[in-house]
Amino acid sequence: MSSAQEDSAQEGSAQEGRGRGDSTRCVRAGIGPARPGQPMLPGPVLAAPYHLSADEGSESDYYARVSNPGWRGLEAAISELEGDGDAAVGCAVFGSGMSAITVLLRTVLRPGDVLVLPSDGYYLVRAYATERLVPQGIMVRECATPAMVDAVAGARLVLAETPSNPGLDVVDLQSLASACRATGALLAVDNTTATPLGQLPLRLGADVVVASGTKSLSGHSDLLMGYLATADAGLLAAVLRERTMSGSVLGPFEAWLAHRSLGSAALRLDRQCANAGALAEMMLHHRAVHDVRWPGLAGDPAHTVAASQMSRFGGLVRGVLASADAVHALVGASELISAATSFGGLHTTVDRRARWGDDVAPGFFRLSCGIEDTEDLVRDLTRALDTLR
Ligand SMILES: Cc1ncc(COP(=O)(O)O)c(C=O)c1O
Repeated sequence: MSSAQEDSAQEGSAQEGRGRGDSTRCVRAGIGPARPGQPMLPGPVLAAPYHLSADEGSESDYYARVSNPGWRGLEAAISELEGDGDAAVGCAVFGSGMSAITVLLRTVLRPGDVLVLPSDGYYLVRAYATERLVPQGIMVRECATPAMVDAVAGARLVLAETPSNPGLDVVDLQSLASACRATGALLAVDNTTATPLGQLPLRLGADVVVASGTKSLSGHSDLLMGYLATADAGLLAAVLRERTMSGSVLGPFEAWLAHRSLGSAALRLDRQCANAGALAEMMLHHRAVHDVRWPGLAGDPAHTVAASQMSRFGGLVRGVLASADAVHALVGASELISAATSFGGLHTTVDRRARWGDDVAPGFFRLSCGIEDTEDLVRDLTRALDTLR
C-alpha cells in the first residue's frame, strides 16, 4: 500500500472508531481494512536501506530515520486514540518520552521565550530546562500543577502534566486551555500517567500532547518510546523535521511491540485502575501509611477536577511511610510487589521517590498497580504493611 492509500484507509478507520468501546478501538487502532493474505498487523521492517526508484523523489520510504511503515501504523493508532476520531490529529513517535518532550521544546522555544513547567512533575524535564534551555536565554517558570492556570501570563509554551508524577495532582485542563488561548501561549500536556484511555487533552483544548509510551500505554515494561500528537499541521511538520535531523527515533522492533501491545491497553488499564482503587482504599485506613493520594478517591483534593476530565483515574497511587527504611522493609515483606522506578507495567511495583531527588518526604512512595488479581494484592500489601512498626 502506498502511504497515500494508508492515509485514506487510516482516516476511514479513525472515523469508524467514533462511538465504539475503548477495547474495540485499541484492538483496531492503526489497522487498515482486511486484505486477504496479509497479516492483520504487519511485522517490523528492520532494514535501514530501501530500494530506490529511478523516478527520483517519488519514494515514500527511503531511509528508516525519516519514515518507515512500522511508525506509520503506530502513529495512525495513537492519532486515533489521542484524537478520538478527529482525522486532523497527527502523531510522531520517538525513541522515548524524553525525546518527544525535548524535540517539542527545541522546536517551539527561542531565546527570550518563557516556558511554564510543573514544579511537581517528572524531574528530568525540569533538569533539561535548567541545564539546556536557561543557558540559551529561555526563561523557565515553575508552578505547582493545580495552580498552573494562574501562571501562564507572558508564556510562549506551557507544559502541564496531569495527573503529575509523582504527586498525582491535577490541573483543570479546560480552564488552563482558556487561559493559554487568552494569552497566546501554546498548551502542551504530558499524558503519560493518564494515557489517551484516561484523558483526552486535545478534546479539552490543549494544542499538543506529549507522552512516554514506555508506561501503561505499551504496558509490558519491555520497551522505551514516546510520542507527540497534535492537530496543528505546521507544528507537526516542524517536529518531524527536528526528529529527522536530531535522530530521536524509535527502533522498528519497539514500534512493532508497542503497536502489538496497544490492543490490550484498555483491558490492562481497567485492571490497573481497579487495583489502584482497592489498594488506595485499604491504605487510607492503615495506620502505617499517611497522605494517600489517588485521583479516584472521593475525598482526594484532586477528585472533583479529575472526575470532570478523566474517564479512568490511572494505576498510580502515592502514600508516605515513616521513613526510607520503612519503604525498603515494605518491599522486603511483600511477596508480590517489587521495587522499580518505571511504572505502568503488568507487575505491581513501588518506587521511593526521594531516592531520585524529588522534593518529597524520605518515606514517600509511588505504587504502580499491575494487573494481578485485586484480592491477592490487597492481601499481600496489607500483610506487608502490618509488619511495619
Ligand atoms: C510524566 C513523565 N513524562 C515523561 C517521562 C519520560 O519518559 P521516558 O522514560 O520514556 O523517556 C516520564 C518517565 O518516567 C514520566 O513519568
